Amino acid sequence: MSQQKKGRLFGLGVGPGDPELVTVKAVNCIEQSDVIAYPTATGTKSNAKASIEPYIKPTHQLLPLTYPVTAGPVADSSAYQPMLTRFYDETAEEIAGLLNKGKNVSIICAGDPFVFGSYMYWHARLSDQFETLVVPGISSVLAAPVQLGMPLCHREDIVSIIPATLSEEELVRQFENCGSAVIMKLGRTFPKVVRALEKAGIIGNAYYVERATMQKERIMPVSEVKPQDVAYFSVIVIPCEKPV
Ligand SMILES: C[S@@+](CC[C@H](N)C(=O)[O-])C[C@H]1O[C@@H](n2cnc3c(N)ncnc32)[C@H](O)[C@@H]1O
Repeated sequence: MSQQKKGRLFGLGVGPGDPELVTVKAVNCIEQSDVIAYPTATGTKSNAKASIEPYIKPTHQLLPLTYPVTAGPVADSSAYQPMLTRFYDETAEEIAGLLNKGKNVSIICAGDPFVFGSYMYWHARLSDQFETLVVPGISSVLAAPVQLGMPLCHREDIVSIIPATLSEEELVRQFENCGSAVIMKLGRTFPKVVRALEKAGIIGNAYYVERATMQKERIMPVSEVKPQDVAYFSVIVIPCEKPV
């Protein structure tokens, strides 16, 4: 009896939001897929899925991968990491089941899959068992400075990608020593980041970019942002000096 041919796993970076910024290669992989899996949180719309909406066909099986929790007391507790590990283990098993049945599965990811992208956790669990193709995407790190209209680095500049989840003390240390930077994972972390930018003396060169390339994009100096209005899908850009 012939063995069932296994399906292929595609890890697709689908860019910052604008469907036109999804690469041709990612669209080709979507066309070859039977299943499109997308990470999502309860009660929210997946930005990654919205980016590929024009490329989804009625024949695609859609598979939401719903995080157990993303905010609140549990997300702040020591129970969170084991919960997340179990979530990745269980969903990886579900995806392995589909791949074993010969289905091609795309797991999509906002921006680039290997820049703070959840795809990497499924990749770690599945890529040694199944034929896998990872497609880079345009990260928010690159899209935000373009939308802002200010270059990120030139000549000998060094760029830092800084998660806002670091402690305030560590943020100050990073800001005092960085050149250009993109600060990610804002939201509740925003007031702490502002204090650190002030302490490091660089708040005047810090720009808030929310939902870069999406419909409700907002861009302004950090000093003008109301903390209660800060979205998770936002970054702060510290651009380089104006090129002359
Ligand atoms: C889990 S990380 C995913 C990053 C993604 N893989 C990338 O390459 O852009 C989520 C963070 O990415 C940033 N982000 C992603 N897309 C964004 C966008 N279109 N505009 C602004 N920030 C974005 C935000 O800082 C958000 O908190």
